[in-house]
Amino acid sequence: ENAQLKDIISHAKEYGFVFPSSEIYDGLQAVYDYGQNGVELKNNLKMLWWKCMTQLHQNVVGIDAAIFMHPNTWKASGHVDSFNDPMIDNLDSKKRYRADVLIEEKAAEYEKQGDVEKAQSLLQEMGRLLGAEDLKGVQQLIISENIKCPISGTSNWTEVRQFNLMFSTQVGSVAEDSSTIYLRPETAQGIFVNFLNVQKSGRMKVPFGIAQIGKAFRNEIVARQFIFRMREFEQMEMQFFVRPGTEMEWYQHWRTMRRNWHEALGVPTEKLRFHDHEKLAHYANAAVDIEFEFPFGFKEVEGIHSRTDFDLTQHQNLSRKKQQYFDNDLNEDGKPFGNYVPYVVETSVGADRLFLMTLCNAYQEEEITEGENTKTRTFLKFHPAIAPVKAAVFPLVKKDGLPEKAMQIFNDLKFDFNMIYEERDAIGKRYTRQDLIGTPFCIAVDYETLENDTVTVRERDSREQKRMHISELRQYIGDAVSF
Ligand code: GAP
Repeated sequence: ENAQLKDIISHAKEYGFVFPSSEIYDGLQAVYDYGQNGVELKNNLKMLWWKCMTQLHQNVVGIDAAIFMHPNTWKASGHVDSFNDPMIDNLDSKKRYRADVLIEEKAAEYEKQGDVEKAQSLLQEMGRLLGAEDLKGVQQLIISENIKCPISGTSNWTEVRQFNLMFSTQVGSVAEDSSTIYLRPETAQGIFVNFLNVQKSGRMKVPFGIAQIGKAFRNEIVARQFIFRMREFEQMEMQFFVRPGTEMEWYQHWRTMRRNWHEALGVPTEKLRFHDHEKLAHYANAAVDIEFEFPFGFKEVEGIHSRTDFDLTQHQNLSRKKQQYFDNDLNEDGKPFGNYVPYVVETSVGADRLFLMTLCNAYQEEEITEGENTKTRTFLKFHPAIAPVKAAVFPLVKKDGLPEKAMQIFNDLKFDFNMIYEERDAIGKRYTRQDLIGTPFCIAVDYETLENDTVTVRERDSREQKRMHISELRQYIGDAVSF
């Protein structure tokens, strides 16, 4: 199974999707760069999310807050005191691990062996110990389960300690003036502190939402599984402000909406599942993850959380600025609902994790027979809306005016779609190359084109070719790439 992840990682590098960061210096752990095709895919995913949140919802608007925020933000949100992971060191390999992840992996092993009950009771026990902050108990659990270090194979473990995940730095140049600030570990707080700015300047009426896409930073202990868990990553979050008492309806609403969105991107329903949290964070009264079946198992892609009035109340208390909304709708008694701190339902998805999901979902290998030969065709079956390149234009040969004709088509369509013009190599090779980056359409210009302005359009998944008039291309591609 993990052979498949390896194939995907090397494919991503070879075809310009994802490179290790500063690779010439042997890379930087859990940090990655996006290449020429990766940046297109990621931008398409972000744009689709943005459009589905803001353009399709009259009552959801966007913002773009700074990465740096006043340090009190993170006191109020609870991150300074409790944004921790339990870590454990192995004395032989000198490697650091997340204690909860080691236990989760053990549970996954039990589940694979068919012992679902044992897996569940192990996870429950871990949840109980972590909830009670019983770090000694967590260490004992690791030892009694005989969990070995994945590198050294030994069980020579230290005690478990809490490790704060926020990166900090100094602002100000003179030592006395400087103060510690943090790189934001989530984008959500930029939305909370701007709640009244947006509400007032946009004359927003509850229920309404604020959406944001931006970088977040966490000093993650576990640095494996490619771009699944990174130290610098991007979040796409939406806080939906509602009247207290209505939050469960909205929680159900967004849970359904968000799962449907992933399915609309082409992820089969059996590769997705909901995972309801039994143990809730201190600020939540309901929480669910949407999980995708990655090559390394079902894992979280997006979280939907009912966060109550926790964050706004915390900010109100620390800033001493009221974070209230006046609701003049009438209640059952015919009186206005009046002032209250709204409740919040949050949807939070990682752009990079979404990227990895769509890449894993798109990666296909199929046996094809041509005459007497069978070969394996690798292609990326992206939904055309997110494919990095929408169409490639090829002249059949590099002479007799075919390149000029093909270039005309390319120049005409490039204003609407991200296109490629290619004349090198045999045409079969050119098709293969587009399959490998997931281009849905290849347009070939041949001698017939010069006579009647028709071209062949080869479709990526079926490999079928259709003949159509040049004037039909814009509409044909446009229909396919719309979401
Ligand atoms: N505001 C809520 C929040 O930040 P979270 O579950 O910690 O919740 C939300 O993060 C989403 O952000 C996750 O579902 C995941 O997609 C993404 N994410 C979190 N940490 C990440 C990391 N280290 N690398 C990549 N994506 C991450």
